Amino acid sequence: MPVRAGSYTDELVQTAKIVASPGRGILAIDESNATCGKRLDSIGLDNTETNRQAYRQLLLTTPGLGEYISGAILFEETLYQSTTDGKKFVDCLCDQNIVPGIKVDKGLVPLPGSNNESWCQGLDGLASRSAEYYKQGARFAKWRTVVSIPCGPSALAVKEAAWGLARYAAISQDNGLVPIVEPEILLDGDHSIDRTLEVAEKVWAEVFYYLAENNVVFEGILLKPSMVTPGAEHKEKASPETIAEYTLKMLNRRVPPAVPGIMFLSGGQSEVEATLNLNAMNQSPNPWHVSFSYARALQNSVLKTWKGLPENIEAAQKALLVRAKANSMAQLGRYSA
Ligand code: 13P
Repeated sequence: MPVRAGSYTDELVQTAKIVASPGRGILAIDESNATCGKRLDSIGLDNTETNRQAYRQLLLTTPGLGEYISGAILFEETLYQSTTDGKKFVDCLCDQNIVPGIKVDKGLVPLPGSNNESWCQGLDGLASRSAEYYKQGARFAKWRTVVSIPCGPSALAVKEAAWGLARYAAISQDNGLVPIVEPEILLDGDHSIDRTLEVAEKVWAEVFYYLAENNVVFEGILLKPSMVTPGAEHKEKASPETIAEYTLKMLNRRVPPAVPGIMFLSGGQSEVEATLNLNAMNQSPNPWHVSFSYARALQNSVLKTWKGLPENIEAAQKALLVRAKANSMAQLGRYSA
């Protein structure tokens, strides 16, 4: 089989293994400027570059973070930023043995000809951007596309999501970045957990079909799936055990054991729910490292504690460590609330 990743293959496999190391997971802080603005607005701060930098500095300079966090996904602005003392954020991460990652997609736009669905832009110029990000110290990448169950999903939207992810993955590997493959199946809707399982199986089957067609090296990728849950507006909630059972069924049916790590997104679950669900999935051994790549489920209490005040930074960093440690325990299957 031709290997597209060329000279980077060994390095990609090594990077993926470090990110998927026992008891650790990913801190996702790759919110676009617009989304970061919403987070800042929730604590009454303006969406300025200074405030975004202050918030990211708080997160990335948390002492002891590397014990629980193996990778951090950054937005492009953060990759090039430094602390107020002039230390590059990338160096802060490397000092704690945390691998820097970069969001490389250019966001979602309407998909003409579909059921009001969207597709993800960003392939144009991706190779040169990726090479530049590698030079800046990034070693993995993220591309998030979404699939909506209430909108169908249409065959067109699923195919477009899968093909885009596969092209992105091949280009990332060609440039030394481990691709995180993230087709987020949105929680929105009143559908049952069985319906989510059906859609997730369809989506992952297509994703792996096109990943293989694009000669992507499976040992050098990471996945970022949504957990298989009922829709957020469904009449009944599912227990962590049921979510674990359905999610593992989907993964066992669709994901080859060559893939080193499954790094779940939190998708709007509460902090504790996301931890309990991950813990339930790690109650028995899995063929992969099953872990987290949470944004909201790691940041909600940090923001509430910080409130934008310098005197709260230490307490906010402690709040981050509490969530990071809880998810670390959940990765090991040893969390108790
Ligand atoms: P959430 O954990 O908030 O769903 O974010 C996941 C994500 O895709 C960010 O990288």
